[in-house]
Amino acid sequence: MTLDALLAEIRARFQAGGIEGPAREARLLVSGLLDLAPAALITGGAEPAGTEAVDAARRAAARRLAGEPLHRILGWREFFGRRFHLSAGTLEPRPDTEVLVDRLLPHVRGILAVRGRCRILDLGTGTGAICLTLLAEVPGATGLGVDVCADALRTAVANAQRLGVSDRFAVIESDWFRAVAGTFEIVVSNPPYIARDVIATLDPGVRLHDPMAALDGGEDGLDAYRSLARGAAAHLADGGIVGVEIGFDQKDAVTRLFSAAGFVCRDAARDLGGQDRTLLFSLPRPD
Ligand SMILES: C[S@@+](CC[C@H](N)C(=O)[O-])C[C@H]1O[C@@H](n2cnc3c(N)ncnc32)[C@H](O)[C@@H]1O
Repeated sequence: MTLDALLAEIRARFQAGGIEGPAREARLLVSGLLDLAPAALITGGAEPAGTEAVDAARRAAARRLAGEPLHRILGWREFFGRRFHLSAGTLEPRPDTEVLVDRLLPHVRGILAVRGRCRILDLGTGTGAICLTLLAEVPGATGLGVDVCADALRTAVANAQRLGVSDRFAVIESDWFRAVAGTFEIVVSNPPYIARDVIATLDPGVRLHDPMAALDGGEDGLDAYRSLARGAAAHLADGGIVGVEIGFDQKDAVTRLFSAAGFVCRDAARDLGGQDRTLLFSLPRPD
């Protein structure tokens, strides 16, 4: 069987099974499983796929049709052009979170240039997507990843090794700031922010496969932001920046929480879908 024929078979099964974007999903599944660049499916479609690859693709397609998300099946997801491995305790990093990295990058570069160091604290690090991307983009920055989930921390450490930044990255198991000591030029978090009664309405691919600790933001979705706003000032170096991802309807509420803790909002950005997605805060400089 050729790659073209394999791709056509998977695409047809996805279409019949009601998978949204069947052609794209089939391409990602086959290229991901066979570790092929997407272009190789176009230029090498006449090549034989190989029996093992065909069997693996058929097994993977059956899992996809049973509702498992594509990247859970592959075991990794791309974020900011790099591959992050997943585990049961990690959220799949999402493209929306790349906005937070984009907004922070100039600050990380600027702080490093002026001060000769930039320490990043990533609260709720999961796969390490945010912190490890910043470290990979800015050689010289250092990072500490925090999570309550030990499995997530193991995955973040393994991702740091794969990305070649493990000499600048450490992890600590902690309930937000509880076990964290010292100050950081950047404090960043994409915390769980879904209101508890909304969780039941989420797509099953999210609700059943992303860990609950990565989703559940408490009664009103704001529990984590309360802890972050309360603890951030004590761990922020002079002139430092706090960056958070937010839910589409949380900009005012999260800004109020940080304002009440003495912070000023410096930047608010939207994602590619036009929804409010990130906020950056700093402390006013004493006169
Ligand atoms: C929405 S996920 C974000 C994961 C990753 N930073 C990303 O952007 O893809 C939230 C993360 O916060 C962690 N978390 C939840 N409650 C926590 C707590 N009390 N203290 C530290 N981390 C927590 C979860 O385990 C999860 O990894």
